[in-house]
Amino acid sequence: MNILIIGAGGREHTFAWKLAQSPKCNQLFVAPGNAGTAQMATNLAIGVNDFEGIKSAVIENNIEMVVVGPEDPLVNGIHDFFLNDKALKSVMVIGPREQAAQLEGSKEFAKEFMKANNIPTAQYASFTAATLDQGLVFLNQMKAPYVLKADGLAAGKGVLIINDLTEAKTQLKEMLVDEKFGAASKTVVIEEFLDGIELSCFVLTDGKNFVTFPMAKDYKRIGEGDTGLNTGGMGAISPVPFVTPQFEQKIHERIVLQTIAGFEKGDLPFQGFVFIGLIKVGEDPYVIEYNVRMGDPETEVVLPLIKNDFVDLLTATAKGELNTQSIEVDERTATTVMLVSGGYPEAYAKGKIMAGLDSTSSSILFHAGTQLDGDKVLTSGGRVMAVTSLAGNFKEALNHSYATIENISFEGMNYRKDLGFDL
Ligand code: AMP
Ligand code: GLY
Repeated sequence: MNILIIGAGGREHTFAWKLAQSPKCNQLFVAPGNAGTAQMATNLAIGVNDFEGIKSAVIENNIEMVVVGPEDPLVNGIHDFFLNDKALKSVMVIGPREQAAQLEGSKEFAKEFMKANNIPTAQYASFTAATLDQGLVFLNQMKAPYVLKADGLAAGKGVLIINDLTEAKTQLKEMLVDEKFGAASKTVVIEEFLDGIELSCFVLTDGKNFVTFPMAKDYKRIGEGDTGLNTGGMGAISPVPFVTPQFEQKIHERIVLQTIAGFEKGDLPFQGFVFIGLIKVGEDPYVIEYNVRMGDPETEVVLPLIKNDFVDLLTATAKGELNTQSIEVDERTATTVMLVSGGYPEAYAKGKIMAGLDSTSSSILFHAGTQLDGDKVLTSGGRVMAVTSLAGNFKEALNHSYATIENISFEGMNYRKDLGFDL
């Protein structure tokens, strides 16, 4: 089978690495890909939202399956685009259709879905510019800290957690009236603050049947001890040491089963990954958010633990036959440490030459923001490379990753040296 992966990050390199291991994968393409995906696939210079460009590539290369990495093309309806096109409709697309992708594309839609399906989540209300005054009254009734969420996609920046009531009111006004996050904050969800430790659960579903992957914990802040600005993710660990079988059972019964049942009930066809952002409050799990794709860098720890043939899993997903599959998981723990450009998540330089990439045996290097220049690998993004290792426990695995990193260098390279500090 010829397969096309859409995206350019560490998640997509991991997909490519895993798909390339399958004897059923014939030619593999990535659009646009990076220097890492170029090692096992053909990169195509096509943007993730260029549906016409993707269509031409699919036809030209006899592609039978398209695996969509990031949320943007899903929220923009790439799956529907394929279904509505005579030449493309038999191509398998991994990723939900536009309507179900609203679970990530609209916080309000996600909250309504959870309410309708009795899925535990923070209490909330949503407001627009027309109901600003009610929003201000609602804030008066809430306790600090105040959680304000732009309804739409805001590149991970749309959630504000504010301690001061006056400041929260000012921010609500700025989001709704001044459109602080553009169209994304035309509607704002105000939520109860949940105090606990976060983790993520990953489900692959055909809309009716599903398999679950190992859970993961990511580290979002740039600074050690979880300080400083939010990033796309500085590292991850899977499985999560504090998840007991009892806690996992609660997640399964109260959240995963209800979510999949909700897809059927709500007529939301869903073939793809559900990434459920959870928070453990006391001994109970609550949903913080849904994403309709795999996480990055969580993919870089979750997929290396899966022993199944990935083409088989994804084919069963597209055909509605996931009931024929069961997940086989490596017993070890996987960790990944993200190497980032100096300055990230604020302004940073690109085009730095990377050294020491071929001297690794105890880790897997998943490229996130890299590009080839002849035979040189250059940095091309804020998050540059995920260094993944597997071992008997997370500390040993991290030691392998940190030892590998000793050999890698580029100007301005930064990474967190304290992953797992809270476990
Ligand atoms: P979201 O984009 O909804 O995942 O929110 C981004 C981050 O904000 C989450 O990863 C949490 O750390 C935090 N957050 C979101 N909602 C809440 C909440 N209700 N209570 C506490 N923290 C939250
Ligand atoms: N690591 C968080 C995300 O992929 O959204």
